[in-house]
Amino acid sequence: PKTAIIVVAAGSGTRLGASAPKAFVGIDERSVLRHALDGVFAASPAQVIVVAPAGHEGDAESELRAAAGDRVDLGRVVVGGRTRQESVAAGLGALWGDITTVLVHDAARALTPPEQIDAVAAAVTATTGVIPALPVVNTLKRVSGDDVVEAVDRAELVAAQTPQGFPRDLLESAYAAALAAGGEYTDDAAVFAAAGHPVTHIAGSPLAFKITLTADLDRARQLVAQPQQ
Ligand code: CTP
Ligand code: MG
Repeated sequence: PKTAIIVVAAGSGTRLGASAPKAFVGIDERSVLRHALDGVFAASPAQVIVVAPAGHEGDAESELRAAAGDRVDLGRVVVGGRTRQESVAAGLGALWGDITTVLVHDAARALTPPEQIDAVAAAVTATTGVIPALPVVNTLKRVSGDDVVEAVDRAELVAAQTPQGFPRDLLESAYAAALAAGGEYTDDAAVFAAAGHPVTHIAGSPLAFKITLTADLDRARQLVAQPQQ
């Protein structure tokens, strides 16, 4: 394949507060990481790099083997870093072969539809990054301390999801530039944009929500138990 998906799963899940790293918490009998990888392998064939927490490489290998089946040769596990940005950089360093498009995906968005993964990959061009995003539904205010400064027009805003897709060469040079400058960014699109490259957005899915808090894990458990809801 010409496309690779870096699945970042090296976080500890501080806000979830489980006893294991978030990627290895069970939704049903399958973990967060297993569900994420099932989605990845249900999408069009791609190279898959799983970025695991240090000490959990073997656990990640097991999940990769289970999700990949006879396509296990497409996958590889590497150890992540202290920040998400470092974990993505580790994933980029593990790419092999003639990959031209790289998608970066949060394992914590475990129920992301495979169609979203394919749609992002299809929208990437040689010069442009792509993010899936949802409209903002809440009424938003800009504040300063206790003072409400102004209303923010939500039509100008979207909520970003993953996978985020990029041309490989420009993403690699953008990450190298971010590392050299010591810049810290909230997502991959921000790293890419900081290097001067354009990013577009396509429609995301409510199912691609990120499991962050216990309430999110409860929601994922309900969706897996009763998918029609
Ligand atoms: N991630 C990673 N390496 C890190 C931090 C985060 O690979 N050093 C990954 C997480 O595993 C997750 C994704 O980035 O799939 C989004 O991060 P987040 O939801 O913040 O997960 P955690 O950092 O694990 O959670 P928390 O911030 O609550 O500790
Ligand atoms: Mg985090």
